[in-house]
Amino acid sequence: MLNIALPKGRLGDKVYGLFSSIGYDCAAIYEDNRKLVFENPERGVRYLLVKPSDVAIYVEHGAADIGVVGKDVLLETQPDVYELLDLQLGRCRLAVAAKNGWQEDLSLPLRVATKYPRVAKEYYEAQGRQIEIIRLNGSIELAPILGLSDVIVDIVETGTTLKENDLGVFADVAQSSARLIANKASYQFSAGVIDGICGKLREKL
Ligand code: PRP
Repeated sequence: MLNIALPKGRLGDKVYGLFSSIGYDCAAIYEDNRKLVFENPERGVRYLLVKPSDVAIYVEHGAADIGVVGKDVLLETQPDVYELLDLQLGRCRLAVAAKNGWQEDLSLPLRVATKYPRVAKEYYEAQGRQIEIIRLNGSIELAPILGLSDVIVDIVETGTTLKENDLGVFADVAQSSARLIANKASYQFSAGVIDGICGKLREKL
């Protein structure tokens, strides 16, 4: 069995749709919404539904042979895995955002709220800008509204969350989309199978 880690949620549904379209379907995924492991024995695949930010951990440690994860997560966690294919799903950008009309005071360290401390640190280090990171886990947009931070470094997909909270993009940091990744040892052992799946997925893009 080839273990495939898929991200639970919005992106996962799209990614599963893509695997399904190349014949690696598993109808039970739609029937039981608390189960986390689904198999298609004929195809020899087992899907593991994991938190999006945990996919790369499963793959890096070999608990999953391949997986699908956002480039944003790869940039932040830099796991030791192979990045095989851009699935061109879940497109979004990592950006710096602030309250509309906010003026930067370059004489002070910039207070940055984010779920992406490494990405933010590298971005500002490259500019020689001193920052203070405020690590949050969600609803990042609240931080500048309440004065907890000056800016945020976060995902912008449709831009709706920023708009509805009177925030705007200040600068772009990186582009993101879903990537197919593989455990390095699994790829040595099962290159034929993994390359076969990768090739079929590529044809659907
Ligand atoms: C993400 C991100 C933004 C939002 C951007 O949050 O952190 O808040 O989506 O999407 P938009 O540009 O389409 O509005 P998520 O939904 O993952 O929830 P979170 O706030 O708990 O991180």
